[in-house]
Amino acid sequence: MKKPDSSATLFVVGNINVDLIMSTLHEWPKKGTEAMLDSSSLRPGGSAGNCALALAALDTPHRLVANQGNDQFTGWLAGLFPESAPGWPTADCETSLTFGVTHPDHERTFFSNQGHIVRLSMQDVLGQLPETAQPGDWVLLCGTWLCTALYADYPQLLSTLKQRGYHVAVDSGWPPQDWSDALREQAANWLPFCDALLLNEVETLGLADDVTLDAAAHRLLSQMADGAFCVAKCGPEGARLWSAALTLYQHAELVDVVDTIGAGDSFNAGFLSALIYGLPPATALQWGVRVAGCAISSSPRRYPDWQSLFGLVEKL
Ligand SMILES: Nc1ncnc2c1ncn2[C@@H]1O[C@H](COP(=O)(O)OP(=O)(O)OP(=O)(O)O)[C@@H](O)[C@H]1O
Ligand SMILES: [Mg+2]
Repeated sequence: MKKPDSSATLFVVGNINVDLIMSTLHEWPKKGTEAMLDSSSLRPGGSAGNCALALAALDTPHRLVANQGNDQFTGWLAGLFPESAPGWPTADCETSLTFGVTHPDHERTFFSNQGHIVRLSMQDVLGQLPETAQPGDWVLLCGTWLCTALYADYPQLLSTLKQRGYHVAVDSGWPPQDWSDALREQAANWLPFCDALLLNEVETLGLADDVTLDAAAHRLLSQMADGAFCVAKCGPEGARLWSAALTLYQHAELVDVVDTIGAGDSFNAGFLSALIYGLPPATALQWGVRVAGCAISSSPRRYPDWQSLFGLVEKL
């Protein structure tokens, strides 16, 4: 099978950081002591980083639009994204780093520094994006609440992206400060420039301040760009999509879950890849669910290849 052509590109904008995860912490240590854990794993993380790793495996035309710190980790992270990293501006600070421990019940506790991601600016982002979009280009903005400097400029950033001709998707994640009316009022300033919201179930309810998913999605749609759609990722239940014209549901894959970190980011990669090839929303949901299912059930992490995703299209 020859890979279908796409002149469109997916630009992923947001947080990339170092994740150091250690397992398993049975008891919280006393202050001033040292705990020996069985294993550790060092990997790139952050919503934008997770999504870009999946896109590279899917061979989707993409670019990771980010910035970087200036320490021993900087070169390591950049080396993992050789196509994109030469465009990243350097902030004179430590690399954003998350240290996590897993507990016997699979819960995790994370500690993160601020690092470079809080310094990513609108100029950093716009400087890495072509002045004029190619037809079908998408920009995904993720790690919204963590990229604090960029978030301050969201209304202007999204309106500029629309002026340049991009379709704009947002996966904000859960706000560390929790939802509030103030946060919703801020979102009302950028939602009109948003073509796709890719949130999970509780984020959809939180942003809309509603109690049912259906009502929440319609409330958000009424604030978004013409022709927009709203996706709710529902964990083991799969994913739903609403637009003015239709409502769709895709059940999740039946898989043995190994590690759900970045499930939503892998979903975003599959979903938006389908749109980059001009495929319809029903296929995009299918691709999202397939990529997420594959990612969370493998260790080391694997993703489907483009051949198997296009195989799903033929079956439809
Ligand atoms: N237990 C599961 N079994 C099968 N599929 C799952 C499971 N959990 C997640 N998924 C798949 O991953 C997708 C995204 O997961 P989820 O709904 O948890 O998003 P999220 O909360 O944004 O994830 P993240 O924690 O990465 O932010 C789901 O729509 C589903 O397709
Ligand atoms: Mg998420």
